[in-house]
Amino acid sequence: MLGHYPTKRSVLVPTLLYAQDEHGFLSDEVIHELAQRLELTDLEVCNVISYYSMLTTKPRGKFNVQVCTNIACLVRGGEELLDHCKQRLGIGKAETTADGLFSLEEVECIGACSWAPAAQVNYDFHENLTPDKMDQILENYKTNESH
Ligand code: FES
Repeated sequence: MLGHYPTKRSVLVPTLLYAQDEHGFLSDEVIHELAQRLELTDLEVCNVISYYSMLTTKPRGKFNVQVCTNIACLVRGGEELLDHCKQRLGIGKAETTADGLFSLEEVECIGACSWAPAAQVNYDFHENLTPDKMDQILENYKTNESH
C-alpha cells in the first residue's frame, strides 16, 4: 500500500481498516506493529483510531450497526430508531449480541443527512429508515450470514 500514498503517515487509516477487517479489531499488538512499520508512535496511532467511529480497539459483532442521532437524523426519528434497534437486538449501546452477530453504536453524522435517518452497517449505508425497514435490514444480514 505504501506505493499508492505520498507519505507513510497517509497510509495509516487505510492500513488500520485493512488490519481491522483481518483481525476483527485493533489490538495493542496490531497498533504497535503498524506504528513501527509507519514510523509513528503507538500514541499517534491510538489518536487516529479514537477519531474515527469505524475503527475499534475492542472486539465487535460481525455486523456493526451504527445509528446516527445527529441533528438531521434526530429530527427525523434517529433516536427512536436507535431505541428500536436496542429492543430488536436485545442489547444496549456499545454492546454485542450473545451470538456475536450484531453490535450497536450511536454515532455522529455519517454524511447521509439528506436521507435521514441513516445508519451504517460495516461498510453499507442504509437511508430513509423506519423501524420496519430496519427490521428487514437486520433480518437480511442474519439470513445472509446463515447461508
Ligand atoms: S445527521 Fe445523520 S447522517 Fe448527518
